[in-house]
Amino acid sequence: MLALGIESTAHTWGIGIIKDKKILANIKDTYTTEKGGIVPMEAAKHHENVYKEVIEKALTQAKIKLKDLDLISYSCGPGLAPCLRVGLKVAKELAKDYNKPLVPCNHCISHLEIGKLVTDCKDPVLLYVSGANTQVIAFEGDKYRIFGETLDQGVGNFLDAFARHTGLGFPGGPKLYELSLKSKNLIELPYVVKGMDVSVSGLLTNLKQKYDAGKYKIEDLAYSCQETVFAMLLEVAERAMAHCQKKELLLGGGVACNKRLQEMAKTMCEERNAECFIPPNDLLVDNGAMICWQGVLEQKNAVNSEKADIKPYERTDDVVVNW
Ligand code: ATP
Ligand code: FE2
Repeated sequence: MLALGIESTAHTWGIGIIKDKKILANIKDTYTTEKGGIVPMEAAKHHENVYKEVIEKALTQAKIKLKDLDLISYSCGPGLAPCLRVGLKVAKELAKDYNKPLVPCNHCISHLEIGKLVTDCKDPVLLYVSGANTQVIAFEGDKYRIFGETLDQGVGNFLDAFARHTGLGFPGGPKLYELSLKSKNLIELPYVVKGMDVSVSGLLTNLKQKYDAGKYKIEDLAYSCQETVFAMLLEVAERAMAHCQKKELLLGGGVACNKRLQEMAKTMCEERNAECFIPPNDLLVDNGAMICWQGVLEQKNAVNSEKADIKPYERTDDVVVNW
């Protein structure tokens, strides 16, 4: 089985190529901004501009031709509609021109399935922490269910917003991490876990106020911000593991590249005699390989390319798991 997958839910245009279970190529080009957040139409324009080149690079690296493919998949949602539409358009064109089956894939679930492919985990709780998404997901009662999630912003967007406020630039997550290494001074911040969900908007306001007051060092705020928000995430993830009686934690999403989050996740797992699985960074962030692998798993869900569509608001638990 030789497959190609297209990721385009937000700022990343990614193409993955997989043969059987081996990733032959995973190439991406990401829309970035000097200041401010992501402008959906601008990100879509970026994807329009780079899609051909990224596909070419991936095909060259994988040493294959489009006609050799057995399957094409694309991320149908959740995500920004203008960006998703570019992915859909390209996927449809390729499927039609080369007469290949076309499989729409859920972006959040593909973060989990690629983690299962490249680590040894079997039935994990996924802590998925990216820019827009923050969810604790596990398979229970024949569905991937969301056991906890953010009530407002994704944790990546929260980190980026605080970093932007302090003039650190985008993406802010890695910059706050670098600063956090210079401190061990924990400042008390609002810790908001409501049942199984987390909320970060109050924490963001509080951090901005503290920064503006000029009484705190930025490295202490960066350190305390990470300690607080990661503890919130791991509290919810741990409770989901206890509730589902699962012994595996899998990390996913761009924020999971953070070494401190990884360390805290490992400690939590050790303490409850569970195992922590962390895919490599290029598979944690948005990427084409995960959509490609999801397409392989879901090959029986191929659709007629005329009927293929986007689902910007599709939820993890809307997906029928039949693979
Ligand atoms: P999604 O569409 O799934 O919401 P996304 O488009 O936000 O994903 P990702 O690449 O999964 O993209 O995640 C990007 C986020 O990850 C940014 O908010 C960025 O600041 C954050 N990030 C990346 N590296 C680190 C790091 N080392 N520490 C903390 N945050 C990080
Ligand atoms: Fe993602």
